[in-house]
Amino acid sequence: MKEKIDILNDKKQQALLGGGEARIQKQHEKKKLTARERIQYFLDEGSFEEIGMLVTHRTTDFGMEKEQYYGDGVITGYGTVNGRPLYIFAQDFTVFGGALSETHAEKICKVMDLAVKAGTPMIGLNDSGGARIQEGVKSLGGYADIFYRNVQSSGVIPQISAIMGPCAGGAVYSPAMTDFTMMVKDTSYMFVTGPNVVKTVTNENVTSEELGGASAHATKSGVAHITSDNDVACLEDLKQLLSYLPQNNKEKAPKIPYELSDETREELKEIIPDNANKPYDMHSVIKGIIDSDSFFEIHKDHAENIIVGFARLGGRSIGIIANQPMFLAGVLDVNSSKKAARFTRFCDAFNIPLLVLVDVPGFLPGTDQEWNGIIVHGAKLLYALSEATVPRITVITRKAYGGAYDVMNSKHIGADFNFAWPSAEIAVMGAKGASEIIFRKEIKNADDQAAKLAEKEAEYAEKFATPYRAAQRGFIDEIILPENTRRKLLRAFSILEHKEVVKPDRKHGNIPL
Ligand code: COA
Repeated sequence: MKEKIDILNDKKQQALLGGGEARIQKQHEKKKLTARERIQYFLDEGSFEEIGMLVTHRTTDFGMEKEQYYGDGVITGYGTVNGRPLYIFAQDFTVFGGALSETHAEKICKVMDLAVKAGTPMIGLNDSGGARIQEGVKSLGGYADIFYRNVQSSGVIPQISAIMGPCAGGAVYSPAMTDFTMMVKDTSYMFVTGPNVVKTVTNENVTSEELGGASAHATKSGVAHITSDNDVACLEDLKQLLSYLPQNNKEKAPKIPYELSDETREELKEIIPDNANKPYDMHSVIKGIIDSDSFFEIHKDHAENIIVGFARLGGRSIGIIANQPMFLAGVLDVNSSKKAARFTRFCDAFNIPLLVLVDVPGFLPGTDQEWNGIIVHGAKLLYALSEATVPRITVITRKAYGGAYDVMNSKHIGADFNFAWPSAEIAVMGAKGASEIIFRKEIKNADDQAAKLAEKEAEYAEKFATPYRAAQRGFIDEIILPENTRRKLLRAFSILEHKEVVKPDRKHGNIPL
């Protein structure tokens, strides 16, 4: 028996070494942890149970049968994070550059299937040179097997991808179909075709980092939801993200014990400037409402005219969507609509109540927006909020103009409670623009046109740039004092805790894509 145990130990030892010491050192030189180090850092100490440690590939082309590594370039298994179970895979760049073979894909699919059955999150730590070139279509089939499972798991369990190295070609589509894509600055990149192909096809000169590095995807494309400075920071961010989420779509997110002692927040009184055209930072409103230090922002550097992220209110997870007057006056445009729609759908799929903070002057005008489909992208947000059945509460802090009033979780599209601050202006448009249109003739015929416009503007503002018309009709349930917002929301979300909506049977809706 001892001999047999020695054989097993020897094999395990080889597996632990991945592609060998030299390649591990190369990985460290690139300021990257190895796949095993990442798993060890991420999971609770001693909780990792590996599955398929001794799997090897089955390829015989190009002499590959002689090049075998236990694990075949991906480490798979389960463990816990802060005591909560999850399944995980981590691609091992030291083995064939983490490239995906048929067996490598089979290992990933196995844990993906197990995660759905167990109702736990599925975490992928990606670090791979793409399809294993020596395997051809077998490898491509392996990708598609993963993509298919990403889709079947979508809305059932949270799926999160951390990109911690290269991720190119078809490989990018698995992360893209998971709920969140995280990237590590300077050491990760994602693109469908790399700089060489780009040069050949479009004659553009671009580096990997410029084309698909963390900063490009965090700001320009919005492909990355979260970026982190290094591997350790990324894994910490991932743990924090998980803390807001339930294990699956049948559960609610865990409640963190929270002592309620600070329901009145005086600082909220001071935020809205007297001049309605002056910006202010919506982050300070968020901070004034939520449990201290509980905001975890998603898509922080992309479409900054809208803020989305998770927070806690009385220890419970909520999702926040908030117009940001600091950027483009908080207007809705293509990117902000897509950003908020995607976030809405995640929260709705996973039972996370939504708080929508509104200060929106409308949709962004212009050919750029129209030709890029603001109609259809704005409709995404309208659709996503309209179909969301989680508790939904709106607070209008200042402007709620035009169609954007409807879109931003209005009563009409199914919000449960709609509150407004006394500073709210709920109207078809701003007083100046409105007066210029409806009093055009009167102004034109006036001796002093500027004075007439000012008079009409004031008249319109008094009538409509308030929350009172909306409150009269019941579109606003209550006009609340800013300092009481937190208390109102604590109570309102509490009464909605067991909200249930029965939906008519249908295969699925047809969200404008
Ligand atoms: N299939 C098989 N092996 C691969 C691979 C792939 N797709 N990508 C990388 N490898 C291997 C390399 O042969 C090398 O093996 P070695 O350790 O035995 O020398 C190892 O992984 C590391 O690759 P290397 O090129 O030395 O690393 P790098 O950090 O300099 O570059 C990449 C990383 C990903 C940019 C580069 O390997 C690459 O361009 N790979 C091919 C990407 C691709 O076209 N994939 C297929 C389409 S999806």
